[in-house]
Amino acid sequence: MERLGLVTGAASGIGRAITERFVADGMRVLAVDIDAAGLAALQREFADHVVTAECDVTSEASVAAACATARDLGGLHVAVANAGRGAFSPIVDHPLEEWQAILDLCLTGVFLTVKHAAPVVHDGGSIITIASLNATQPSAGMSAYCAAKAGVVMLTKVAAMELGARGIRVNTIAPGLVETNATSAFFMVPGVVEEFVENTTVGRFAQPADVANMASFLAGDESSFISGSLLPVDGGAATKRYPDLPAAFARLVAPIE
Ligand SMILES: NC(=O)c1ccc[n+]([C@@H]2O[C@H](COP(=O)([O-])OP(=O)(O)OC[C@H]3O[C@@H](n4cnc5c(N)ncnc54)[C@H](O)[C@@H]3O)[C@@H](O)[C@H]2O)c1
Repeated sequence: MERLGLVTGAASGIGRAITERFVADGMRVLAVDIDAAGLAALQREFADHVVTAECDVTSEASVAAACATARDLGGLHVAVANAGRGAFSPIVDHPLEEWQAILDLCLTGVFLTVKHAAPVVHDGGSIITIASLNATQPSAGMSAYCAAKAGVVMLTKVAAMELGARGIRVNTIAPGLVETNATSAFFMVPGVVEEFVENTTVGRFAQPADVANMASFLAGDESSFISGSLLPVDGGAATKRYPDLPAAFARLVAPIE
């Protein structure tokens, strides 16, 4: 039977690369996102191998509807809670609405995806959440994102405990800097990418396919003894020091001499 995977935030970046990799692995993918144009492009490219649906992971009704579609398609073998974004602001200036928006998307969105996907994941299936290097390595100016991603790690462990009896494994991937739309600002500020690269042991930043490789591994049987784990895909960055983002962004707004 063709395996079915759910990927949230599938229209761009890491989610798109995971969708592409799952299709290459012989899976069918229910690709969901709030970006209708991005989903349409995905549909054109992958035709019958993907089913697309608009879904806002911060809305319980929307996530429940996407998971009902997954059930109608025969149930899930893999679910990937990927949708997320960051925000930059020192805590003392952080607007509460933005704090809440990041927590809603990056933490509650993952909770809702796991909550509604788990009942339609077949016994023995795999659930993957996308955390970040920032789940373990803090960045000044990214309090909401760091807190949300740290929360994803613990949520993942609890989900692994609760779903283990059904043979469902739940793991989280913690990527370092990946070149996507979400990180385009880092590539525009002189010196930031260099600091990220300096923070790795392998001397480069990642492409979305690097994360998709790990997702493919976690989706398959070769990872059958791995659950409740945080798997870094960060080029060794966790051994070093996160870039000084406040200093970098201050350079951006400093007057040119
Ligand atoms: N790019 C990196 O360096 C990096 C590093 C660590 C972790 N991550 C994490 O990887 C995940 C994907 O990030 P990316 O870099 O591919 O970003 P991206 O901006 O390229 O893609 C994110 C996708 O999520 C979608 N999305 C946003 N809000 C949504 C919502 N409410 N419901 C459904 N979909 C929504 C967007 O439309 C977009 O298609 C995020 O959770 C991010 O925090 C990224």
